[in-house]
Amino acid sequence: MSWQARRTAPPDLSVIEPDAFVSSAARRLSLEIRGVLDTQERCSLALSGGSTPRPIYRRLADELPGRDLWSRIDVFFGDERCVPPDDPASNYRMVKEALLDRVPIDPAQVHRMEGERTDRDAAARTYEAILPDRLDLLVLGLGADGHTASLFPGGPALAETRRRVLPVRGPGAQLDRLTITPPVILDARLTCVLVAGGDKADALARAISGPFAPEDTPGQLARSGLWLADTAAAARLEARRR
Ligand code: 6PG
Repeated sequence: MSWQARRTAPPDLSVIEPDAFVSSAARRLSLEIRGVLDTQERCSLALSGGSTPRPIYRRLADELPGRDLWSRIDVFFGDERCVPPDDPASNYRMVKEALLDRVPIDPAQVHRMEGERTDRDAAARTYEAILPDRLDLLVLGLGADGHTASLFPGGPALAETRRRVLPVRGPGAQLDRLTITPPVILDARLTCVLVAGGDKADALARAISGPFAPEDTPGQLARSGLWLADTAAAARLEARRR
């Protein structure tokens, strides 16, 4: 499907029982990555932070063990907290521990956001320069408030149409971050949003089927993509479907 058509295509939603969510999500990510590599030489894969993806990334390492595939994958990040890469809050550290340390990938193929840099705008511009024009597969999460990457409801970055990476202030006491902007999500060949837990039920219902208002529910930017949700997160959706 052309990426232009994807902007208005309906979501591709899979609702999965909680005890099968991790294995099913890892299997689907593996299939999507293999699908890209069946049709082209390389795959640009951007990963989300947060807690939902961690066990999925661990399982993905088992699903995709071979150097033959990992030598053709370039890893990027959708956002990063403004902390050193070895900080417990670092998305890079989480992905490294859950996935990158468990697969045969050359570190030169892993492109982290330098959240630790004092000049955050310079760090964002450095990342923009290496980010592909169109990511092949962008993995995202969804916050209970409807945020995705580090695009938060009402945040100024949601109005960005030119810059592809921006420094942002997290809401409340949250850490400052670097994040991809809406154009990067909209231009991705495929987005895959991983959503688990009943606390996400309202946000998922808004993201998938609410009135289109990404300034209120940034997760809607990925509406036309693949959504992998457990039954708890999909509870409101199921209700709507009855
Ligand atoms: C981050 C993520 C963020 C995450 C959502 C959902 O830096 O935390 O990029 O966008 O995907 O907050 O997080 P959970 O999956 O942990 O609920």
